[in-house]
Amino acid sequence: MADEVNYPDYLALDELLSLQRLRSEPEHPDELLFIVVHQASELWFKVIVQQLHALIAELKGGDTQRALWHVQRINTLMRIVAEQLSSLDTLPPQRFLQFRNFLGASSGQQSIQFRMIGALSGQRDDSFVAALKAGGTVPAPLQEALDTPRLEDLFVEMAANRGRTLESLYTGPGPDPLFFLAEALLEYDQAFQRWRFLHVQLVERIIGPMTGGTGGTLGAKYLSQSVTQRFFPMLWSLRANLVTQE
Ligand code: HEM
Repeated sequence: MADEVNYPDYLALDELLSLQRLRSEPEHPDELLFIVVHQASELWFKVIVQQLHALIAELKGGDTQRALWHVQRINTLMRIVAEQLSSLDTLPPQRFLQFRNFLGASSGQQSIQFRMIGALSGQRDDSFVAALKAGGTVPAPLQEALDTPRLEDLFVEMAANRGRTLESLYTGPGPDPLFFLAEALLEYDQAFQRWRFLHVQLVERIIGPMTGGTGGTLGAKYLSQSVTQRFFPMLWSLRANLVTQE
């Protein structure tokens, strides 16, 4: 019976709240915050991955309104994930060093869900794909995501099926649903880039600009290379070619 379910059972709180396993010895009080921010981010990544799948299905099916709804939700979630990074601004660098060794070789670089988000959003550049393959066999869901057409290409195809080019969305008689969807996708790029920027800024604040990461990269220097990466390069570049319509 549905009414027998209570709040702690429904949310599996016993399990959930036992999953913050601090590694530092003696336990460092700040490690809890460090773990929770990462775990919370991974939970949000899970919803974002689900929403990206739904978005792709709506783009393929040609439903502009529902596609827009999913992008708006994804954008809200990306803002939340980015904002929670700021809680780690309260972690003094010297205190992070007190438990950093206990992380071993674990690194955000190994986040499969983060890679899924990149792959489902259309990231296909050589360094991205090479980094995936360097980690051994690419997990099947990730390979599937890589085999899915890029989000931007799906959007272009959706517009083409209605006889529209991307340029025509910005030069036509007035904003229409496809235009708003294009702008929401652009906002997704902004929100994702903002996460990257805030993350690299956090990394610099805590371990400095030149310190290597636990994943073996050049740390902030490595991360800053991807801050300018975009999922929708055409949506950005078309703006340079617009002419004023009387
Ligand atoms: C004290 C705070 C943090 C520090 C010092 C830090 C440091 C780093 C460094 C140095 C890297 C580069 C890879 C490496 O060599 O390890 C990295 C990558 C990454 N981190 Fe963090 N990080 C922090 C917080 C977070 C949080 C809260 C998340 C949330 C999930 C996160 C997610 C990621 C992801 C997804 C990557 C891979 C990014 C990419 O390859 O584009 N990090 N981090």
